[in-house]
Amino acid sequence: MIQIENICKSFNTHFVLNQLSLMVNQGETLVIIGKSGSGKSVLLKLIIGLLKPETGSILIEGKNIVKAGFRDLQDMRRNFGFVFQSSALFDSMTVSENINLALRKHFKWPEQKICERTTECLNFVNLEGLQEKLPSELSGGMRKRVGVARAIAGYPQYILFDEPTTGLDPETAENINQLILKLKRELEVTSVVVTHDMHSAFTVGDRIALLHKGKIDIEGEPAVIKKSYHPEIKKFLSGYTLLK
Ligand SMILES: Nc1ncnc2c1ncn2[C@@H]1O[C@H](COP(=O)(O)OP(=O)(O)O)[C@@H](O)[C@H]1O
Ligand SMILES: [Mg+2]
Repeated sequence: MIQIENICKSFNTHFVLNQLSLMVNQGETLVIIGKSGSGKSVLLKLIIGLLKPETGSILIEGKNIVKAGFRDLQDMRRNFGFVFQSSALFDSMTVSENINLALRKHFKWPEQKICERTTECLNFVNLEGLQEKLPSELSGGMRKRVGVARAIAGYPQYILFDEPTTGLDPETAENINQLILKLKRELEVTSVVVTHDMHSAFTVGDRIALLHKGKIDIEGEPAVIKKSYHPEIKKFLSGYTLLK
C-alpha cells in the first residue's frame, strides 16, 4: 500500500503539489489524470524518492520514503518498476542489454539468471526473439513493451507508468492497456498509471483520481468519474466522447 499524506512540492516559488494526499491500495490500478503541467510526473518521482517533497510523508508499506537514507532508498526502489513516458532505452544497446543492465544495477544475480529473466520478461510482453534488436529497429509500441519488460524484470510489487499510451496510435495504445491489465491479473502488481487518455483510464483503472491545482480534487471508481460534474473531468470526458 502507498499512503501519500499532505505533501507539498514546489520549484523555486512555483507550487506544483500543495497538501496532496492519496492512497493506493494493494493490488489495485490507480489512474491519475490531470492536464499537462499539473504535476503528474513530479508525483511519480516523489513516490520512488527521485524527488523529495518539502513537507508530508509517502509511506510504502508503512515506511516513509521521504525520510529514507541511501541504503533504504535503494531497497525500497527495488520494489518498484518505472515505465517512462519516453521508454528511456539506450539506443546503442540491444533490447536484452537494456534489460540486463537494469538487472545488474539492482541485483547481484549470476549472469545466467539475468539472461533467463530477460528472456522470460520479453516473452511476457510478447516480444519473443527480439533480444538482439536495437531500439531503433522497433516500433514505438514495441519500445514501450521493452520498457515494461525492463520494469517487471526485478519482480517489483509496484509499477508506475508515466503516460504509457501517449503518442501511440489507438490500436497500439489498446495493446498497452491490455498489457497493463495482464500485469495486474497475472503478476498481481499494484500500479499507478498517469495519463490524460480517458479511454486508457477507464480501461485499466480500478479507481481514477484527478490531479488539479496541486491536489487530488476528486477520486472514485470509473463509473463515479463518468458521472462527475467537475469541470476539469467534463473537459477530459468531452474529448473522450468526441473520439468515441
Ligand atoms: N526538475 C524541475 N525543476 C523545475 N521545475 C520542474 C521540474 N520538474 C517539473 N517542474 C515543473 O513542475 C510542473 C509539473 O511538471 P510535471 O509533473 O512534469 O507535469 P505533468 O503533469 O505534465 O507530468 C511544471 O510546471 C514543470 O515545469
Ligand atoms: Mg509528465
